[in-house]
Amino acid sequence: MNNIRIKTLQRKMKLYYKKSSRALPWRIKNQKNQDPYKTLISEIMLQQTRVNAVLDYYKNFLKKFPDLKSLALANENDILIAWSGLGYYRRARNLHKTAKIIFKEYESKIPSDKIVLKQLPGIGEYTSSAIASFAFGKEELVIDTNVERFIKRIFDINANKLSPIRIKELGEIIFPKKNRGDFAQAIMDFSNDYCTKLSPKCSSCIISQYCEYKGFDDLKKIKQKKNKKYCISYFIYDSKELFLIRRKPVEEILGGMYEVPSSIWKSNKKVADMEVIKLDKNYNPMFLKNTIKHEFSHFTLFSKVMIIKKEKIMIKIVLKENG
Ligand code: ADE
Repeated sequence: MNNIRIKTLQRKMKLYYKKSSRALPWRIKNQKNQDPYKTLISEIMLQQTRVNAVLDYYKNFLKKFPDLKSLALANENDILIAWSGLGYYRRARNLHKTAKIIFKEYESKIPSDKIVLKQLPGIGEYTSSAIASFAFGKEELVIDTNVERFIKRIFDINANKLSPIRIKELGEIIFPKKNRGDFAQAIMDFSNDYCTKLSPKCSSCIISQYCEYKGFDDLKKIKQKKNKKYCISYFIYDSKELFLIRRKPVEEILGGMYEVPSSIWKSNKKVADMEVIKLDKNYNPMFLKNTIKHEFSHFTLFSKVMIIKKEKIMIKIVLKENG
């Protein structure tokens, strides 16, 4: 693609960002008024999570923890409660660690330098660039999955995974020298409107003239079915209608969250079914008629629920993790 076409593409994206982008609560289009704390919270929440799923959580989270100090001094459990339902809970724990470090070592001021940011827990290549760029106007290349897809389509590259170096090289060709944060956020919104993962709207796309994307071959692979996992969940209740929950170990998926106890999730249904616990007749175990289906981003979990009535549930209160 020649320079003139790239300049036109950049101009069109700039106009699109000005006129048609989303008014998201963490975005302030006047750089001087941007609150880096808002950028930090939103970018951590947006890791692996869609904008629409984040919006309400973001607003409630900011009500509870309006600034970095309040977050740093908060109890981890309260943070997990505010995060509850958003998934990938390690993000919340890392965010708390990061807030504590910034509170102690940086006088509650979020660092603006990408290299410094990248050393903080839960902040990697993408998030450090995003914060430096969106909150502080640093001219970083911000490349998330949307931006990567956009770049690959512009050059019609049908490779599943390009090396980070190659992606950066291509990014350097497409990104303007100035206002890179706006350009990246324009692409993110554009990916929602036009350049979607599964059904790109090429026929109505406002930059199709400047894009070499020809085919949809790459979509077939993406549309393949997700993996399946299976488990047994044990709903154990007593005559007082108390039921048993446990806190999942921190290192597991959904770590730190409470659940009805379940067996280890297995990819083989028969192996998972063997986890049905054997009980004598007095318990009269039953199975819930329907299997519970839970969608995760990379797999679907099918849970058979075994219902067990016990005379009395002995409650053990665990005050501390592993305690
Ligand atoms: N995904 C990650 N960061 C985003 C942002 N600032 N705007 C829209 N989508 C995003």
